[in-house]
Parts: sequence; C-alpha cells; structure tokens
Amino acid sequence: MARIFLTRIVDGEALDRLRAVHTVEVWTGDAPPTREELITGLGDAEGLLCMLSDRIDADVIAAAPRLRAIANYAVGTDNVDLDAALARGIAVGNTPNVLTDATADLAFALMLAAARHLPAAERSVRADEWGTWEATRWNGAEVHGATLGIVGFGRIGRAVARRAEGFSMNVLATRATPLAELLARSDFVSLHCPLTPETHHLIDAAALSRMKSSAILINTARGGIVDQQALGEALRKGTIGGAALDVTDPEPMRADDPLLNAPNLIVLPHIGSATHATRSRMTELAVANLLAALAGQPMPNAVV
Ligand code: GLV
Ligand code: GLV
Repeated sequence: MARIFLTRIVDGEALDRLRAVHTVEVWTGDAPPTREELITGLGDAEGLLCMLSDRIDADVIAAAPRLRAIANYAVGTDNVDLDAALARGIAVGNTPNVLTDATADLAFALMLAAARHLPAAERSVRADEWGTWEATRWNGAEVHGATLGIVGFGRIGRAVARRAEGFSMNVLATRATPLAELLARSDFVSLHCPLTPETHHLIDAAALSRMKSSAILINTARGGIVDQQALGEALRKGTIGGAALDVTDPEPMRADDPLLNAPNLIVLPHIGSATHATRSRMTELAVANLLAALAGQPMPNAVV
C-alpha cells in the first residue's frame, strides 16, 4: 500500500479503484497547492496525480524522495520536468486519446464563435443593444468553405481536420505545408502542437505578420506557443482578424491582463477536455498509470 497525493479532486469513479489498493490523499484547498504546499503534500508519497497547472520541476521531484510514479491529468506534459523524472527512474504517464475529440470540438466551437462574433453579439442582447435586425453590424467570416491551417497534425489536429471536412473546408497541415505558406493561405489557423523549446513562441510577430488581415487564430494547445504581446499588437493594429484562445501564458489570465483589451478576442479558461465523459476517462487512464507503476509494471500510457 503506497501513499498517493492528488493535487485536485477529479471526476469519475476510477478513484475508488485506487483507494482500494492505496492510501489516497487529496488536496482540498479551493486554490491549487502552492509550490510549498505541493512539496509538503508530496512528502513521502510514492505516487502523484497532478494537474497541468502544477509545475513538477526538478526541485519538487528532488523534495519527494520516495516518489515512483507521476500521473499527469492531461495529455500535455510540459508542466513536468521529464528529464529529472527520468534521471530518478520515476515513471511519468499522461492521458492521451480520450480527450482528442472533446478538444477538437472546442477548437471548432472557438472557430465558429470567433468567426460569427458570438460572445459580442450575445453580450449586446444582455446590454439591451438589440435595436433592430442588423444588416451589417454582425457580419463575420464564413467557416464553411474557408481554408483551415492546422499547426501540429497529431491526434487532435487530425480530429479537427475530420470536423473541417463536414464544413467543406480546405485543410492545410504543417505536415505537408511549410508553416510560412500555411499562415499566408489560411483563413483560420488552429494550433495543435505540444509546447516544447522548439514551439515556444512559434507564433510570434513575424508569424502573425504572415497571416491574412482577416485570419483568425485558434489556440487550444498551450499558451506559450503564442507570443501574447505580439498577438495583442496584431489584434490592435488589425493585422489579423481575431483570435480565440483556450490557453494563455501564464494561466490563469487575470482580468487586468492587457491582452483582454484587444479587439476581436475570445479567451476561455482552458476547458478543452472539460466534458463529464472525457474527464472520467482521463481519471481512468491516470489511475491505470498509477496502479501499474506502483505495482512495478510499465504505465499503459507512459511518457518516460
Ligand atoms: C490539456 O490541455 C491537456 O494537455 O490535457
Ligand atoms: C469577440 O467577442 C468576438 O465576438 O469576436
């Protein structure tokens, strides 16, 4: 029986399977544990179930001498120092596949919402600004038949491409089209690559300047892929048409963040995988990773 520290209560019944075999301690604070609270909470734990909002760096790992298994409750693992884990022989697992469709759905929701100005139009009704049927005020971009550039053609990128087919979109992907050309030709650019040193600020001022002045940028991947200062300038100057972000850098984005004053911008609080069914399946995968590693078996979804 090992001690497992959970940094957040998660959805799904799979936790009971973990509790049947191990001692599970859940962080119950409203806010996520601070770094100190995380280190204290970990203590002599052998297993950790953590969120993408927990930074599991080399110091945190060094402060947990008995840690053997890290189950990240996400597909992305940029919040975990994989080299430090590897050096200690700590298994790290993620939750791929089960959140592909939920995230692709959200990318499409953002694309449609930004193209047709849904948030601003909805706000206008609540502000009692619906004076008459508008002939021009809300005119936006067409999604059907438009060109969609997909940056990162992995599981989620391909799931977005499948949806785009139903909208008769012309799909370009970085696998077959150089990024500069993709940016120049696309009406919508949707990011689906992991955050790595190579993709950090991949969408910088130069990349944004290649996009059409009508083009809309969608980011459901990681905030750090976009240079947010450059994005704010591009939106203010109108060198791109809009942006819809489910991820920011840093997270959470505070209400006084200057980016929020930029026009034609939608920001969501990182909800790509947030459906009941998807989150339950993520719990199942994270639990399966922990159960396997703590029993000395390879994690079914191992990253290192
Ligand atoms: C969400 O962003 C994830 O990586 O699962
Ligand atoms: C922003 O809210 C938009 O609708 O473009």
